[in-house]
Amino acid sequence: MKNSKSADSLNDFEKYFDSIKSLLLQRFNFNIPKAFVKTYGCQQNVYDSEKIKGLLHKMGCNFVQTCEEADIIVFNTCAVRKNAEDRVFGNVGALKTLKKKNPQMIIALCGCMTEQEHIVNKIKETFPFVDLVFGTNYIRRFPDFIYEFLTHEKHLFKTKIDDDLLCEGLPIKRENKFKAFLPIMYGCDNFCSYCIVPYVRGREKSRASIAILNEFSQLVERGYKDITLLGQNVNSYGKHLDEDINFAQLLKRLDSIPGDYWIRFMTSHPKDATRDLIDVMAEGEHICHHLHLPVQSGSNRILNLMNRRYTREKYLEIVYYLKEKIPDISITSDIIVGFPGETYDDFCETLSLVKEVEFSSIFTFIYSKREGTPAAEMEDSIPYEEKSAWFKELLELQNSLTGKICKRHIGKIVKVLVEGRSTNKKSLTARTQGNIIVDLSGSNELIGKFVKVKITDVQGCFLKGELI
Ligand code: 5AD
Ligand code: SF4
Repeated sequence: MKNSKSADSLNDFEKYFDSIKSLLLQRFNFNIPKAFVKTYGCQQNVYDSEKIKGLLHKMGCNFVQTCEEADIIVFNTCAVRKNAEDRVFGNVGALKTLKKKNPQMIIALCGCMTEQEHIVNKIKETFPFVDLVFGTNYIRRFPDFIYEFLTHEKHLFKTKIDDDLLCEGLPIKRENKFKAFLPIMYGCDNFCSYCIVPYVRGREKSRASIAILNEFSQLVERGYKDITLLGQNVNSYGKHLDEDINFAQLLKRLDSIPGDYWIRFMTSHPKDATRDLIDVMAEGEHICHHLHLPVQSGSNRILNLMNRRYTREKYLEIVYYLKEKIPDISITSDIIVGFPGETYDDFCETLSLVKEVEFSSIFTFIYSKREGTPAAEMEDSIPYEEKSAWFKELLELQNSLTGKICKRHIGKIVKVLVEGRSTNKKSLTARTQGNIIVDLSGSNELIGKFVKVKITDVQGCFLKGELI
């Protein structure tokens, strides 16, 4: 909140929030304003929304579960694929009637979509009832924008990426009491040819290791059990920092903090996944034996067009080293089907790689054209129906492999973290280090705790277990 009415001292900081609080109270007839924050997309957005909620809480808001009940609505958007954008537009459109009923309502859009000029233009033209639009680097200034809006009552559009500032020291309202996300870096320098992220999140910026260590230690002290380090490419952590540190070293330092917890991290780019990192994972006390290593395609020709900067052979080399050092490693991946110019032969290379690696699960996406990326200019002649058929073929293959991998767990005793009740409320759902879901019977008191279970059966992509 620098460059604004907020001042450096804590006192002024509190006074600043108090003044926003009273302006909001006045606006809503001295009722405590009710806020609703909806998150689209990835874990980074989940974390950003927790910061937005932390700020709204400090501005005196309570939280509600639906738009219909809310006075302040924030949509934190995702731009990675077109269907995510379409969903946002559909949901924003539906707010028009709510705003008519409650004209004092404040509607804000933020996140990756808002960093694209054509999207901002569309919002201005089609959704004039949206009050505030702010970009991915502006979360720290959200209170300033609310203040400005409340005092001038004019629409605000603040979306230019500002690469220099990191969002440190903001309040946060975490939804989960035992699982947490912790960003270690922001942005991306890789420019994979299909991907919009480098354009909407800006250049890579690593957080100082001391800030990460402090936040991590606090989470452990507060009893968090499953902490996921976040970054678009965690393996390039530290590249632009003054301190001499890389991701493997950071991970080792975090792992040395005493406590009963697991560390995960995502996402790792295969071009930067080092043997050092795998060695640290193998030797670590708290580091989950799980690596999310997006391969995107098994064809060298397509990997080259995607600008991924590794080959199928290099990827498999990492996989074999991982399996040698960590025999119970669970590898997961992202795969894009139907990249421009991809042929069925290229796709078959992906199928064969999937068989060779034996991923425990994969996230599969049909290529989505993103305006402004190099791939959007490439010839894309394969009809969507054909891509959908390939997609289905890949899913069927993976389902059979997941079943096969799950069966290997039968009879084993594993440590799991109990996460909650299953959707039918009859059983508990827990997660293994390898990110596989286990269904078991037990009381709610176990939620948020590590327990040992014996795996007794497999149901589709899930394991069934018994407490021991
Ligand atoms: N189309 C389809 N999938 C995409 N991803 C990123 N950009 C696109 C796109 N344009 C996928 C990649 C990435 C994951 C987060 O989203 O697989 O790893
Ligand atoms: Fe996108 Fe590639 Fe960066 Fe991942 S590494 S965010 S896929 S550009």
